[in-house]
Amino acid sequence: MKQIPAPFWTLILGIAVTLISLWVGQNHNLLPVQASEQAPLVDDLFNVMMTIGTALFIVVQGAIVYSLIRFRQPKGDDTDGLPIEGNLPLEAFWTAIPAVIVVGLGLYSVVVFQEMGGFSPGGHHGHGAMVAMAPQESLIDVAPLLAQGLDDDTVFGKTQVYGFGASPLVQMNQPDVTVNVTGMQFAWIFRYPDTGITDGELHIPVGKDVQLKIEAQDVIHSFWVPQFRLKQDALPGEPGELRFVATREGTYPVVCAELCGSYHGAMRTQVIVHSPEDYADWVASRVAEATPTTTVAQPIEKATDAEYLAEIAPDLARSPVQIAQTGLVNH
Ligand code: CUA
Repeated sequence: MKQIPAPFWTLILGIAVTLISLWVGQNHNLLPVQASEQAPLVDDLFNVMMTIGTALFIVVQGAIVYSLIRFRQPKGDDTDGLPIEGNLPLEAFWTAIPAVIVVGLGLYSVVVFQEMGGFSPGGHHGHGAMVAMAPQESLIDVAPLLAQGLDDDTVFGKTQVYGFGASPLVQMNQPDVTVNVTGMQFAWIFRYPDTGITDGELHIPVGKDVQLKIEAQDVIHSFWVPQFRLKQDALPGEPGELRFVATREGTYPVVCAELCGSYHGAMRTQVIVHSPEDYADWVASRVAEATPTTTVAQPIEKATDAEYLAEIAPDLARSPVQIAQTGLVNH
């Protein structure tokens, strides 16, 4: 019986490993739904890494399992193994291959970073959109907090240095919607400088160029929407930026991705991606609510949650929104 030559088996195995890896790279189902223009860029890079990782896993684990079986100790054989000192060509080979892979992935990721606007946070934003601050502040519990510490001009007026700005394609355009995002222990506050709306949830229109200016009031938080494949640290005194286009209507989680204190795990809210018509309705309804009569100072006997909590638990009182969410206070 003729022996089948080794290069033949190597070729067959190589093809099999390649096909399996390519399939796994496209069908791993590890990522949530893509809801932004930026998401496919990130996922393509992830899929390439998944393909390479699968191939390496099969080759390395395959070699180990093959060797375990093929070179196992025969019964009664107590001799030592071969004293192998090293193999320079082999070592050069297995150093060069990962080096090429790592440099290639590095270059690819820089291209993705650039396409997502990673090199241009704050590069082309005007201050024109920020002058229309409505006189009335918020209607919800956060009003006292906002009065305490947040100052649009000194913080959000700064040029963003961190985050993802406009992609090269839209760099000369103004964003369609700008939202000032503040992270605090333990809530996210979203404010719309054009209309004066304040909300605990982020509302944006689908298919529009959205700019988030992200800042923290106390400690470092991280604004993360997995479905958008976007994450940006919220830093006290240093505004960051995320600029993106949502491509899919729906409700997605906003997660704090930086350990920021005892209720970090509960520092979550939602982003609601509306159709342009629904978004216009939402803006109109919120602006209509914000009539001056509803924002007059409350009499002292009708203390807010924050004021009540300030008496009994000063630390918790800093974030009535989150306290309401975590159910520490009964309404
Ligand atoms: Cu905020 Cu973790």
